Amino acid sequence: MSSTNSHSSSRKLKAGGSLAGKVQVPGDKSISHRALLFGAIAEGLTTVEGLLPAEDPISTASCLRSLGVHISPIQKGQIVQIEGVGLDGLKEPTEILDCGNSGTTMRLMLGLLVGREAKHFVLTGDQSLRNRPMKRVGQPLKLMGAQVRGRSNGNFAPLSVLGQKIHGAVIGTPVASAQVKSAILLAALNAEGSTTVIEPAHSRDHSERMLKAFGANLEVGGEMGRHISVSPGVSLKGQSIVVPGDISSAAFWLIAGSIIPGSEITVENVGLNPTRTGIIEIMKTMGASIEIFNQRQVAGEPVGDIKASYVNQLMPFKIGADIIPRLVDEIPILSVAACCCDGVSHITNASELRVKETDRLAVMKRQLTTMGAKIEEHSDGLTIYGKTKLFGTNIDSETDHRVAMSLAVASLIANGDSTLSRADVSAVSYPDFWKDLDHLRH
Ligand code: S3P
Repeated sequence: MSSTNSHSSSRKLKAGGSLAGKVQVPGDKSISHRALLFGAIAEGLTTVEGLLPAEDPISTASCLRSLGVHISPIQKGQIVQIEGVGLDGLKEPTEILDCGNSGTTMRLMLGLLVGREAKHFVLTGDQSLRNRPMKRVGQPLKLMGAQVRGRSNGNFAPLSVLGQKIHGAVIGTPVASAQVKSAILLAALNAEGSTTVIEPAHSRDHSERMLKAFGANLEVGGEMGRHISVSPGVSLKGQSIVVPGDISSAAFWLIAGSIIPGSEITVENVGLNPTRTGIIEIMKTMGASIEIFNQRQVAGEPVGDIKASYVNQLMPFKIGADIIPRLVDEIPILSVAACCCDGVSHITNASELRVKETDRLAVMKRQLTTMGAKIEEHSDGLTIYGKTKLFGTNIDSETDHRVAMSLAVASLIANGDSTLSRADVSAVSYPDFWKDLDHLRH
């Protein structure tokens, strides 16, 4: 993984046609990061089936290898083996930890490392990551006695961590962020005394589920599971993990199946954790044809197959504070869907999107407007006027993987072909996206 962005390729995108068939999206990115991190500090072997073989989890694995953890190569279709070193076994690295483009890697690493007494760590990432706010993690960790330094008073990488003896605390987080919550929970495992995190809204709960499965002393309470407590002193035990398909990657096909005339797409083996299914709730309010079947539990997470079929008339939607944490990564593709709805869609309370891999509100407005969409941008959201005909043109991912894939779907419903610059950034979360698109095309 290099710290400069190497995704400079452009792709010609042919408009028209329909998409049909079955597709399996790669493993859930959030669960993949956690499997690597928790496996690394467990005792004994952890095996992971379906781990996402994409750039972001590869960044997490390479940081963990620098900390002395043996992890087998991450390749499509291979079970990954992690030889856990136990809660106290990470070594001081001789190199800088490169988190690439991955905010989850950097934020969770901070939680993992702050309590490693007398050890020193330096973390950096690509240009996008070096401009993403890290104080939201550094500040709560400071309440536990941690020391994180960086540019702009600790907000921006490169960051340095001098490991300290840390103590438990009761910490209210200002934003509902699973990355912040998970960083605190990771730090809590090595702290003196217990820690409670209180979130303003319930963010994705993969860390809670998986830490419990590894044997951590963790309790979830409060309204909607917003209070999470960890007591240290219990070692984690290596597990066999099966990672479900990522609903955030499935979202591109679910929307494509719904808005491209004549389409019908079944996405198999998709994670249906209720903290992630906001996209399905919104699609149902739009009147989309969504069918979920074959529902089952796999390694502590609900999973199912989802079929999305074209619907001639979709209703506009409203997305606000209550649902944002459950679909935060799906707003770029929902913005594309909004262009096809019969009326005006409103996205509010979404200022978090401005600090993702790019400023996703600004980028989606800019790129879709280039294609003819009618969008108003607000400080915390977008107003999108539906039934505006999009036309094919030169568009740009602006280095954001989810923007690249959302624009690819937009190009399919446009009049005329498009050229998408920096298209291969999709490899950050979905390396086979273009292959799967070819496979579904008819
Ligand atoms: C993630 C949490 C979300 C999400 C990101 C992955 C995680 O970020 O946008 O893609 O794995 O914890 P925030 O925690 O910043 O909301």
